[in-house]
Amino acid sequence: MQVVNHGISQSVMKGALEAASDFFALSKEAKGQFASDDIRRPVRYETGTKDGKARSFLKHYAHPLSDWIHLWPAEPPSYREKMGMFAIEARKLALQLMDAILESLGLGPAYLRKELEEGMQMLAVNGYPQFSQPDVMVGLFPHSDYGFITILLQSCNGLEVMDHDDKCWRAVPHQPEALHVHIGDHLEVLSNGEFKTLIHRAVLNPDNRRISIASIHGLSIDEKVSTAKELLDGQQPKRYEDSSFRDYLDYLHWKIKNQRSFIDSLKIGRA
Ligand code: OGA
Ligand code: NI
Repeated sequence: MQVVNHGISQSVMKGALEAASDFFALSKEAKGQFASDDIRRPVRYETGTKDGKARSFLKHYAHPLSDWIHLWPAEPPSYREKMGMFAIEARKLALQLMDAILESLGLGPAYLRKELEEGMQMLAVNGYPQFSQPDVMVGLFPHSDYGFITILLQSCNGLEVMDHDDKCWRAVPHQPEALHVHIGDHLEVLSNGEFKTLIHRAVLNPDNRRISIASIHGLSIDEKVSTAKELLDGQQPKRYEDSSFRDYLDYLHWKIKNQRSFIDSLKIGRA
């Protein structure tokens, strides 16, 4: 879904996109200090055009902010402030949305409250080149996000989501005031499949370089997410194994190319 009137001001959203864009405009050396292909690093930059995809990204943990912000880029000078403001606001919105989602599942308002308060947030700041041949190169291959929910801000068109029913790609139109929200793997697990994780991808924009900022919200790194017991009974057996964010990182780390996705690896009783 896309949300409007979400309480995050246009200036905070614009500021975060500017900070991202200014970061990507830095020299190779400046960005290179964050470069790593170790997915377990809390701050990590990657860039490159390979295997038909072109994307640069800076991923960094964002909650609790005081644990991580000193590891974020010090250049451009306003990066920490502008991205930090967006991180705080996006997290507030995520907690509100989680309240509504948990209520819709019939789980009380206090459900997971403490764990969510202490939960983790990761920002994926993405930069994509302008490119007009979608058959030749994409931005980001189809995947689902690991957390409960993702809030995504995009500077122009490029995000596409797979329709759960007809399995066709649908473009998520860029609306400057709106934020896109989608479900991740761990909400599918928590809800025992009532909510389904969303497969999405990014295509390259034919007219513009593109920036997107994905804010991913889950439990803290070693906290296991299990299916809510309240949703289980004789007719509704537990369908997913418990797992944590660290389990996800380990899974990705060891995953052999073309093996099944993380969410598929958690499904009980299906080979
Ligand atoms: C992501 C993601 C989509 C986009 O960072 O996980 O799905 O539009 N990004 O950049
Ligand atoms: Ni994603």
